[in-house]
Amino acid sequence: MTKGTFISFEGIDGSGKSTQAFMLSEHLQNLGYEPILTREPGGSPGAEEIRALVLQGDTDRWSAETELLLFTAARRDHLERLIQPALEQGKIVICDRFADSTRMYQGLSRGDLRNTVDALHSLMIGREPDVTLLIDMDPARGLARAKSRQGIEERFEDFGTDLQTKMRTGFLALAEEFNERFVVIDGTREIDIVAQEVAEAVLKYLNSQM
Ligand code: ADP
Ligand code: TYD
Repeated sequence: MTKGTFISFEGIDGSGKSTQAFMLSEHLQNLGYEPILTREPGGSPGAEEIRALVLQGDTDRWSAETELLLFTAARRDHLERLIQPALEQGKIVICDRFADSTRMYQGLSRGDLRNTVDALHSLMIGREPDVTLLIDMDPARGLARAKSRQGIEERFEDFGTDLQTKMRTGFLALAEEFNERFVVIDGTREIDIVAQEVAEAVLKYLNSQM
């Protein structure tokens, strides 16, 4: 049993996860908590090295299976070195993407690998967030936002709107499958309005644990 609280943000590229994760972290700090803000792929030195391998380069750089192993290896390192120790200290961990992203991107994007993803998850990770905030967003708008960032980590964004649409539908289905931990938030509204709804959902959970 861990004492802390594990919160993840999920959603398609450009939906506002990083913005909202940061704002939630600031809000919790103002309330006197000491949240740990982290992200995937990455979040620990080893996992950040794997991040460059999976997010840069051609869209066909890895087979679907190899890619799944790389994301899972990164997550295992992140979990061992950062997430688990922080939760054991009673901290709130806010993670920008976690295993639900693998269920979607590796599980759905190139054929149906969901069973393999779940098997590897239970073997190597075995932990779900306590609360998952799904920032829901129109795929074309999300992609336009993501593309406006102009970075080198564009491997998945390069798959285009069709993939984003599939991911959005998949995330909404996942929210029903894991409805005890998912909260769906409409990310098309103004940043502050979205942030307020995120904070309300998290505080509701924290209060329910007291
Ligand atoms: P993600 O982490 O989901 O890819 P980001 O938080 O990086 O998304 O946001 C992508 C872009 O959209 C950024 O330029 C950000 O400033 C902008 N953005 C985020 N949330 C909103 C919002 N609610 N309305 C308008 N623009 C937003
Ligand atoms: P991220 O940096 O969160 O991108 P964005 O800010 O555009 O949402 O994640 C980078 C990409 O990695 C994103 O396209 C989704 C993908 N990804 C996976 O394919 N599998 C995973 O397990 C994770 C965590 C991310």
